[in-house]
Amino acid sequence: MAQGTALITGASGGIGAELAKLCAADGYDVVLVARGAAALEALAGTLARQHGIRARALTADLADPAALQALFEQMRDTPIEIVVNNAGFGLRGAFAETDWAVEARMIQVNVTALAHLCKLFLPPMIARRSGRILNVASTATFVPGPFMAVYYASKAFVLSFSEALANEAAGTGVTVTVVCPGPTRTGFSEAAGTTGTNLFRGPTMAAADVAREAYDAMMAGRRERIAGARNRWVMRAARLAPRAMLAGITRRLNS
Ligand SMILES: NC(=O)c1ccc[n+]([C@@H]2O[C@H](COP(=O)([O-])OP(=O)(O)OC[C@H]3O[C@@H](n4cnc5c(N)ncnc54)[C@H](OP(=O)(O)O)[C@@H]3O)[C@@H](O)[C@H]2O)c1
Repeated sequence: MAQGTALITGASGGIGAELAKLCAADGYDVVLVARGAAALEALAGTLARQHGIRARALTADLADPAALQALFEQMRDTPIEIVVNNAGFGLRGAFAETDWAVEARMIQVNVTALAHLCKLFLPPMIARRSGRILNVASTATFVPGPFMAVYYASKAFVLSFSEALANEAAGTGVTVTVVCPGPTRTGFSEAAGTTGTNLFRGPTMAAADVAREAYDAMMAGRRERIAGARNRWVMRAARLAPRAMLAGITRRLNS
């Protein structure tokens, strides 16, 4: 008997794929969402075989607003116990020079799709008095991000939004957790153009370790988790520092 169904966005690789593995290992059926059909189907096949759960691959472009309602409709007959809003991407460059079309898609995926999926899946969870939402933010949430201005701002939204939802959901049987990873070895940095930056030349974490911390925090019903002891220490200091100083430090890290 499955524990319930977990829907994970951005499960075609990186942190999302690792979170899907943890859900499946705990006995959850999984619904894997991303654009990359081949990677999703390969992971779904492996997880179903390894753990004897049902694993579905759903190809969807979360930059398309219509895809979200369609995704929800496809799940109408399947109570979703866990929603992991993990899909996201970044873009490096001075805001005056970057491509707005890419940034508009980024806001759609990182911000609008995440909020819309919460809007769709939270009410049935509250009605059942059972459910968990895990939103993936970033340590970028705590600082202004010169040369990745839209990405950092999108993650600031995710933290603020998730903390508010967690408070609203208190006592309903539903928990909302936000995880803030620091630099992590996934496809993210190559896609965002951050591979050679000072930030990614510094210490990084493995996606599996980030996912483990995120999953455990979600299962414990915690509101917030910064992944990695070093990141927790650095962000504690950042919360006390003047914002203009932080912008200067991030500018150097993103160079
Ligand atoms: N890696 C880091 O250093 C780091 C640090 C802090 C926070 N994060 C956050 O962690 C989350 C996961 O990223 P990752 O590091 O695991 O990077 P990743 O390996 O590039 O994974 C990103 C996932 O998001 C999916 N995705 C991107 N655009 C999408 C779209 N339009 N529609 C549907 N799915 C989409 C990708 O799938 P497809 O390409 O197949 O669609 C992929 O599965 C993101 O929210 C990211 O911002 C990452």
